Amino acid sequence: MRTHFQPFQVLFFCLSLLAGLSKPDPDPLQDYCVADNKKPQALFINGAPCISPKDAVSSHFATSALAKAGDTKANQFGFNVTLTNIVNLPGLNTLGLVLARVDIAANGIVPPHSHPRATEVTTCLQGVLLVGFVDTSNRVFTQQIRAGQSFVFPRGLIHFLYNLDSRKPALAVSGLNSQNPGAQIASVATFTSKPPIPEEILEKAFKITKDDVARIRKSLGG
Ligand SMILES: *[C@@H]1O[C@H](CO)[C@@H](O)[C@H](O)[C@H]1NC(C)=O
Repeated sequence: MRTHFQPFQVLFFCLSLLAGLSKPDPDPLQDYCVADNKKPQALFINGAPCISPKDAVSSHFATSALAKAGDTKANQFGFNVTLTNIVNLPGLNTLGLVLARVDIAANGIVPPHSHPRATEVTTCLQGVLLVGFVDTSNRVFTQQIRAGQSFVFPRGLIHFLYNLDSRKPALAVSGLNSQNPGAQIASVATFTSKPPIPEEILEKAFKITKDDVARIRKSLGG
């Protein structure tokens, strides 16, 4: 039996192919572009300027930035994210990715947040995590992951990580496909922005009172 494609099906197919080609970060034009962290930034381009390739050495491509646990006590939610970046790993400049070490205290949480420029795949190395994300149709996808298991948070979608263990810290490592993924914690961005979002907006958006707004702001340290 022959299959006949309607013009709109062909158009849809082409559009989905094009959509699949969109990338979070632009492709680099050279093998590497070791970030020049020495000179004060004079030129604001998409990424950092690079040193001469002749001056690149192996240590530009190595880091021990993720070797040490981040301090989770100072954080109100009990987490600490340590990222590789162009300062502690200059060789990753323009290559379109970073790695994150995520330390989460006992029963600590990385609250619902999003990365506007990156998809994140996280691997649990220690402990038990309840992770999940919400898609744009408001469906939630959650999973418990243990040491050695991974979960992917699609680009831009709100997601969270929760350490289910009430006694031991958890550890995860995430890869993100942008040099500069960006992060917005939903509660913090909404209630503690500077200057603040007018409180009528929050009252109406969350169907809460002025007092509720003040209480939430205060408990989030805003
Ligand atoms: C994360 O841990 C580092 C290293 O212990 C610490 O300097 C930093 O203040 C912590 N960040 C937060 C947000 O608590």
